[in-house]
Order: sequence, then structure tokens, then C-alpha cells
Amino acid sequence: MKNEILKVEDLIVAGSVPILKGVNLTVFEGEIHAVLGSNGTGKSTLGYAIMGSSRYRVLKGRILFKGRDITHLSMTERARLGITMAFQHPANFEGIKVVDYLRISKKYSRDNLNPDEALRMVGLEPKKFLNRELDTGLSGGERKRIELAAVFLMRPEIAILDEPDSGIDLMSISDIANVMRTLNKMGTTIVLITHREELALIAERASHLCAGMILKTGSAREIVDIYLKNCKICDHINQPEVNHASL
Ligand SMILES: Nc1ncnc2c1ncn2[C@@H]1O[C@H](COP(=O)(O)OP(=O)(O)OP(=O)(O)O)[C@@H](O)[C@H]1O
Ligand SMILES: [Mg+2]
Repeated sequence: MKNEILKVEDLIVAGSVPILKGVNLTVFEGEIHAVLGSNGTGKSTLGYAIMGSSRYRVLKGRILFKGRDITHLSMTERARLGITMAFQHPANFEGIKVVDYLRISKKYSRDNLNPDEALRMVGLEPKKFLNRELDTGLSGGERKRIELAAVFLMRPEIAILDEPDSGIDLMSISDIANVMRTLNKMGTTIVLITHREELALIAERASHLCAGMILKTGSAREIVDIYLKNCKICDHINQPEVNHASL
């Protein structure tokens, strides 16, 4: 039997209004697990909640990491346990050089990869980027790649990758798939947040998030088929009367 590395139980999470309405999710150790859903369904909120961001309040439910209840741990404590997230919109930090940012990530690292190698793994030439500042001078795609390089350096137990392809125009789906498979082979379990079915197919299993709830978990193929059949025609925001749980 496979070990559960992450378990989310009946999670209700709010920002200024409730967003997640009772999410259940189980991720097995060593897998790539896609969380697939359309815009605004709560994917990033789920990622932030697992990571422990103070942006959102957990009103009910639990998050377990390797059987331990981490619902009330801080983001830093969760990072120390080996949980990390590459954000959909990574923050910029004026005055911090790329090399220093990557060195901070390396502090949490479980192996000997260096910043040069990590940048090369995401298709960036170290000489060109190490001494750049992590400010608005970097393009969105470059910033996303640097975030992925930081994940490589940390080699966490579990990485939540929130729309890892967004803004990365020159990287094909197969390049992104290779980056994820390499990270996965190095021992990191991946939660891949996406609204793109072709990206979700990289995963072994997937969960379908709709209107703040996971409606179904199954093989990536099975979940992608449900998503294509129901979600491309359903604008859940404008159709609150749709009974999503019956999809
Ligand atoms: N702090 C907040 N307070 C109130 N509502 C919020 C807050 N943060 C997000 N929301 C709303 O919650 C919903 C889910 O947002 P979220 O960012 O999790 O969606 P998403 O599935 O990641 O979407 P996308 O595919 O566009 O990235 C959206 O309608 C968003 O406007
Ligand atoms: Mg999002």
C-alpha cells in the first residue's frame, strides 16, 4: 500500500468570503498529483492553505503531513518539514540578487545541487542571471523559472507547483514535464495545480476542483475527461444553480 504524504480533510477556508467549501484530498508519497479546475475554483487558495499562508483562515477541517496535523503550523514550520510552494505569481524582492535568493533556498536543501545547476535545469544561463536583482526587471517567465530553480535547490518532500507553465512561453509542455519528472525522480512528491488538461496528463492521478470542492479523484486521464466534458461549457461563477456535486 502507498503511504499518504498529504491528507486534506473537510477543509473550509475563507479569505474575506468562504472559498474552499469542504475539500478532501489525499496525495501519495512519490506521485505527481494534478489539481485540475477552471479559473476561480479555488486552486491557488488550496495551495496557500496547505502551505500555511496567513492570507487565508481555516474555519474547519485538518491538513495532515505524513500523519501529523499541521493545520496550525506556520509557513516556516511547514517549510522546515519539507513542504514548499512555487507561486502562480512569484513576488519580487527589490535589492535581492538571484544568487542570494537561491542561496536562501539552499539552506533548506536536502542535497548538494548548486545555484548554477538549478538555473540550468530550468533553462536559464547562470552567468546571465545570478547577479541580476530579483526585481521587476526580470520578465514574468524568468521569475517563474527562478522560482522553479529554488524548488530544485530545496528538493522538498512535497512541492506545490501553482500553474508552473504560466508566463513561460518558450518552455514547451514537454520541457515542463521533464522539469517535473526530474524533480519527482529526485524524491519530491508534486501537487501540480493547473487549469490545462494537457499539463494535468503529466500526472499519475488527478483531482477535479470545482466551486471550492474536490468533486472526484482518479487517474489523470479519467479526471481530464470529466473536466473536458463538464467544465469547458460550465462557467461555475455565473451558473451557481448548477449542482456541481452531481457532475
Ligand atoms: N482573500 C480573498 N478574499 C475573498 N475572495 C478571494 C480571496 N482570494 C481569492 N478569492 C476569490 O476566491 C476564488 C478562488 O480564487 P483562487 O485564486 O484560489 O482561484 P484559482 O482556481 O487559483 O484561479 P486561477 O485559475 O485563475 O488561478 C476567486 O473567485 C477569487 O476571486
Ligand atoms: Mg490560481
